Amino acid sequence: MPSPYIIAGFGYYVPERVVTNAEMETLVETSDEWITTRTGIKERRFAAPGQATSDLALEAAKAALADAGINAGELTHIVLATLTPDCYCPNAAVIVSEKLGVSEKVCLDVNAACSGFLYALEVTRGLLALHPDAVVLTVAVEVLTSRTNFDDRTTCVLFGDGAGAVVMRNQKNIAAKASIRDIALSSNGALWNLLTVKGGGSAFPLRRGEQAGDEFFIQMAGREVYKHAVRYMETICRDLLAKNNLTPDDINLFIPHQANLRIIEGLGKRLEISMDKVFVNVQKYGNTSAASIPIALTEAYQSGAIRPGHRVLLTSFGGGFTWGAVLLEF
Ligand SMILES: CC(C)(COP(=O)(O)OP(=O)(O)OC[C@H]1O[C@@H](n2cnc3c(N)ncnc32)[C@H](O)[C@@H]1OP(=O)(O)O)[C@@H](O)C(=O)NCCC(=O)NCCS
Repeated sequence: MPSPYIIAGFGYYVPERVVTNAEMETLVETSDEWITTRTGIKERRFAAPGQATSDLALEAAKAALADAGINAGELTHIVLATLTPDCYCPNAAVIVSEKLGVSEKVCLDVNAACSGFLYALEVTRGLLALHPDAVVLTVAVEVLTSRTNFDDRTTCVLFGDGAGAVVMRNQKNIAAKASIRDIALSSNGALWNLLTVKGGGSAFPLRRGEQAGDEFFIQMAGREVYKHAVRYMETICRDLLAKNNLTPDDINLFIPHQANLRIIEGLGKRLEISMDKVFVNVQKYGNTSAASIPIALTEAYQSGAIRPGHRVLLTSFGGGFTWGAVLLEF
């Protein structure tokens, strides 16, 4: 029986400003050679001054709505994944609803760091199960540059800004572009301290008149993160495939979180999925955290790398740690 949870439209948006490794060399002591060999990243996008998370989300949302052939007015819910919302209150989803001109929707944010989109898909499935007529905009977006320490060469070369979105609904009398066959999520709170943006939270408050310190920005134990990322993503992909009586050979396209080419290649090797079946765009955008998977998914869909009949496996890993895998059928 086909899954009732369908994707009706895809969209993404990246800011115009391209920042090459050569430009990063002017900001910190680094080199194109170091960044390329360690990460595969050649360039990333930076949001313009004044361009907020909701602005990027809005553009991705409009693209996904157009692809689905529906008006924003038909939406019932907006689920937005981010770790860099416009502000603490209100959530970013309500600001997107206002910018879309449809301010009376049910709007919520999800924070699962780089796994945010996969967590948001699971939340969306829950909403669709509870509300059969729901039409949900599920958007994942980051302006990571708002929390990047440009004096820290070990992190600042890795990240970029962007947004990706899908429109989801239950299977009705409409053409499904894809359906969600299954989702697996996991987390390990014992390791939360390895990848953080602490500053400004209640445990690490920024007091009136105080200057932001290093902990206001992304802090990461890169080597530790690397090790756990590969292991956890491999395990959850294997478990999800086995649960669905599939093997890696049954996957037409594998879309892992675009954090680092070495992690992507290592994961492909462990899962025995050849690189010609692995979608990679990390060279263009760097790590856009929650936005990474929906940007890659939309690019793969628009470029023809995904065709009708394809089985696509998504996987992601991020701060928390949180991680997950999603099986899509086109
Ligand atoms: C961040 C990462 C690329 C660093 O690579 P690494 O091989 O572990 O490098 P190290 O941190 O051990 O640093 C090696 C050397 O490079 C230096 N270095 C770090 N960043 C540098 C940069 N941007 N340019 C030049 N040199 C740099 C370090 O100072 C260190 O020098 P030293 O040996 O003289 O002390 C790697 O750990 C990684 O990919 N981690 C996962 C990060 C990630 O994807 N996180 C997001 C997951 S959601």
